[in-house]
Amino acid sequence: MNLDPGNMLPAHLAGHVDHIGVAVADLQAGIALYCDLLGLELERTEQVPSENVEVAFLKLDRQGGPGHLELLAPLGEDGNIARYIAKRGPGLHHVAVAVRDITAAMAACRAAGVRLLDETPRTGAGGKQIVFLHPKDCGGVLVEMCAPAAGK
Ligand code: CO
Repeated sequence: MNLDPGNMLPAHLAGHVDHIGVAVADLQAGIALYCDLLGLELERTEQVPSENVEVAFLKLDRQGGPGHLELLAPLGEDGNIARYIAKRGPGLHHVAVAVRDITAAMAACRAAGVRLLDETPRTGAGGKQIVFLHPKDCGGVLVEMCAPAAGK
């Protein structure tokens, strides 16, 4: 296995949580809770038409760490987030782990018997390349792997 000499991680892994995804019914209410009341900093909002959601990225800390809280609000009745909220109500939705090389990370998951929900990477918020892993193979957690946008 090709290891990163600095931290002994395989080179395709980045070693940090990119974001935690929280499904919210109302984006502005979510921003008010986490930013105005709880002190996180809003970085940006973005519509992701492929998922039919509007997302807000909040910095997990104000010291420059890479992690974010991703609030996901449905833009209509269709889409995974709208269905999730209709079925279970708002709440914790997924954990996204940063990877450097998503093709290599997908191959490692397949080799380990972890099923992928996406056979090829999709374009997520910020142009990142994302793939979801089957929660039944990840201890009940919906895990997203996300790699920087092409050329970044
Ligand atoms: Co996400």
